[in-house]
Amino acid sequence: MITKCLFPAAGYGTRFLPATKAMPKEMLPIVNKPLIQYGVEEALSAGCHTMAIVTGRGKRSIEDHFDISYELEHQIQGTDKEEYLKEVRNLMHSCTFSYTRQNEMLGLGHAILTGETLIGNEAFAVILADDLCVTETHKSVLAQMTELYKRYKCSIVAIEEVQMSEVDKYGVIAGEEIEEGVYRVNFMVEKPKKEEAPSNLAVIGRYILTPDIFDILRVTKPGKKGEIQITDALMEQARLKRVLAYKFKGKRYDCGSIDGFVEATNALYHKLRS
Ligand code: G1P
Repeated sequence: MITKCLFPAAGYGTRFLPATKAMPKEMLPIVNKPLIQYGVEEALSAGCHTMAIVTGRGKRSIEDHFDISYELEHQIQGTDKEEYLKEVRNLMHSCTFSYTRQNEMLGLGHAILTGETLIGNEAFAVILADDLCVTETHKSVLAQMTELYKRYKCSIVAIEEVQMSEVDKYGVIAGEEIEEGVYRVNFMVEKPKKEEAPSNLAVIGRYILTPDIFDILRVTKPGKKGEIQITDALMEQARLKRVLAYKFKGKRYDCGSIDGFVEATNALYHKLRS
């Protein structure tokens, strides 16, 4: 059973400056909800009740968001405005939130290793909140992955096909399809040039990781951009044992980019109004 979900949330969000100068990118709203809340809702839908959030300087509002705001609650008590807080209150009742701070930005792999103190020795999920995943008729993307985990008990990354011109933005995998949409990874590389990419199967921000990943991350050398990459650690794990890549059912919006953010805003607005 996967019960904990890690949220790396220490990054600067430079692509959204100046909006993110004093506000965490995870708090940017899609319609009326911050990105991180969508992530927490997805984690809960997959059976995770423990949210482990790796924050950094300037990220206090994430903690405040998942806490009681006495003044506000007092103001709106008994009014129809209370309705607006229903969802986040439900999350606060159903989940626990723990935080640790990443002091230096040494990459996604380093952020995940920083979260070890909140995870311990068990398999866990990872959600990158700026990848917003929406499903219509299916279970949430993370719920699809935890289900797969029950059968295979190994690390799993979510993947989707992207244009070859886009592969240099992602971790890219190569593997052998062992059942429909499920690949056994035999190669993985972070942000390759299009000429060097092993496929167009790109990793998106949903992972299930077995805890031996921490030992691997401890000895993973800085890779692309001089950062410790989770992709490199997973490649090493795939060398030692089984790692799967799963072509999820649903739609993912790259809300770390302005185009993806606007697309997600429009799509969710229409959903809300229909
Ligand atoms: C990170 C990972 C990359 C992955 C991507 C998904 O990159 O390093 O492997 O494909 O998330 O969103 P980032 O977008 O943080 O540069």
